[in-house]
Amino acid sequence: MAMSDIKEEIQRRKEEHVGFVLKKEVQNRSLSPGFEDIQFGYSALPEIDFYRVDIKTRMFGKDLSAPLMIDAMTGGYPKAKRINRDLAEAAEETGIAFAVGSQRAMIEEPILADTYKVRDVAPNIPILGNIGAVNLKERGMAFRVEGALKAIDADALQIHLNPLQEIIQPEGDRNFEGCLAAIERARDLIDVPIVIKEVGSGITGEIARRLEKAGARMINVSGAGGTSWGRIESLRHKREGHGLSDVGIPTAVSLIDVSGSVKLPIIASGGVRSGVDAAKSIMLGASYAAAAFPFLAAWDAGTAGNVIATWKEELQAVAFLTGSRNLKELAKNNVLITGRTRENLRAMQERGKWTRR
Ligand SMILES: Cc1cc2nc3c(=O)[nH]c(=O)nc-3n(C[C@H](O)[C@H](O)[C@H](O)COP(=O)(O)O)c2cc1C
Repeated sequence: MAMSDIKEEIQRRKEEHVGFVLKKEVQNRSLSPGFEDIQFGYSALPEIDFYRVDIKTRMFGKDLSAPLMIDAMTGGYPKAKRINRDLAEAAEETGIAFAVGSQRAMIEEPILADTYKVRDVAPNIPILGNIGAVNLKERGMAFRVEGALKAIDADALQIHLNPLQEIIQPEGDRNFEGCLAAIERARDLIDVPIVIKEVGSGITGEIARRLEKAGARMINVSGAGGTSWGRIESLRHKREGHGLSDVGIPTAVSLIDVSGSVKLPIIASGGVRSGVDAAKSIMLGASYAAAAFPFLAAWDAGTAGNVIATWKEELQAVAFLTGSRNLKELAKNNVLITGRTRENLRAMQERGKWTRR
């Protein structure tokens, strides 16, 4: 493919992704993120004042009003500029973090940088840049990514791992050899902290440990049970019914495995659909919770600010209902783990580690 064709292809793909997520049924159908299996000890006697429950935290040296983030989605074509700016503005107004989608398009075509730039509407919140680990392997890429991060004034870089998506895309990059080395190089060359994320199929504790060694400063588990890239790519390429559509590790399981394996702060995403799910994520060891699809749908409906406010209130309510004065106390709550999540965890304990790769 000629360079200009590659650039057009990247832009078209990013635009189609948003279209498919909004218009088609692309949430995971066979796997649940598992939040329904997490029961917290409801307190009939909290003995605290709801209005004094403090859910504030910090991320990359910046204040957040709640441990929430709008996760990576888009950039690189005209409508993406609107989505990024509107969502970043809502994030700024409500005091939560914001992540842009893969910056590959602006790296290939610098004129597209405009579709990712949100700092003018979001001066105070953490903004996270984005690139794929497979893209990072390209010669000179870490240097170009560094430029792209500066251009949007990012506080951190999310590097995404998406082998399932690449396998289903006929145009996908299927050679993941050398991704870990590319991440190590990026750590040495890139100024901002690195977060490693999946895109909806989860990360095991074992892999999180290797990523920690390679220089990750945070892990975003982005587990299975929410937006399914298997489904999106199967539909895009008319391969419906594809056996790989819903492959992955449910978010709750991934979160428990990763939080037991590394000391790094963890972001819970993948099927987080309310402030209650976010609160449960904190109880399972996450420092933050994030979501993509719910905020895109809210953007489409013109209700992003309201949805974020509702999630914050729900999170604060769960803290109140467990007698927790702040996030530290919320995190200390014991939970009962039932259903499929419990089965998964038991199988992991009995059979040892998942796998090495
Ligand atoms: C429309 C759309 C585009 C996405 N693009 C990216 C991307 O460019 N880079 C990335 O790391 N993740 C991307 N994601 C994945 C999300 O960041 C997130 O990991 C995943 O959707 C699971 O969260 P959810 O179930 O709340 O949607 C995208 C998600 C959506 C919905």
